[in-house]
Amino acid sequence: MPSGALSYSVEGVERRDQEREPAVTVTDDGPYAITGGIELLGVTLGEGASKEHYTLCRCGASRNKPFCDGSHWQIGFRDPAEKSRIEKK
Ligand code: FES
Repeated sequence: MPSGALSYSVEGVERRDQEREPAVTVTDDGPYAITGGIELLGVTLGEGASKEHYTLCRCGASRNKPFCDGSHWQIGFRDPAEKSRIEKK
C-alpha cells in the first residue's frame, strides 16, 4: 500500500523526499501506516524496502505478514471500532 513519501536507494543507502516525525496512523478500514523511520524489530526488510515508511497488516489476511499486501481490499475488511460504534446506535 502506498504510504506517501518517495524514497530511493543508492548503494543500499535510503534517500527520502522528506523527513517526518515518527508516527503510527490507523487507516480507515486498512493497515497501520508507519512513517518517520520507526524500527521494526525482528523483521528483515527486503532489498529496496523503505525503512522510513511501511504498512502493517491489521486485518489478518495478508500473505506477507507483518506487512499489508492489499488483501484487506479483497476480504472487505472493516474497522472493528467503526463497526462497534454503528452497532451501538
Ligand atoms: S491490512 Fe492490508 S492486508 Fe491486512
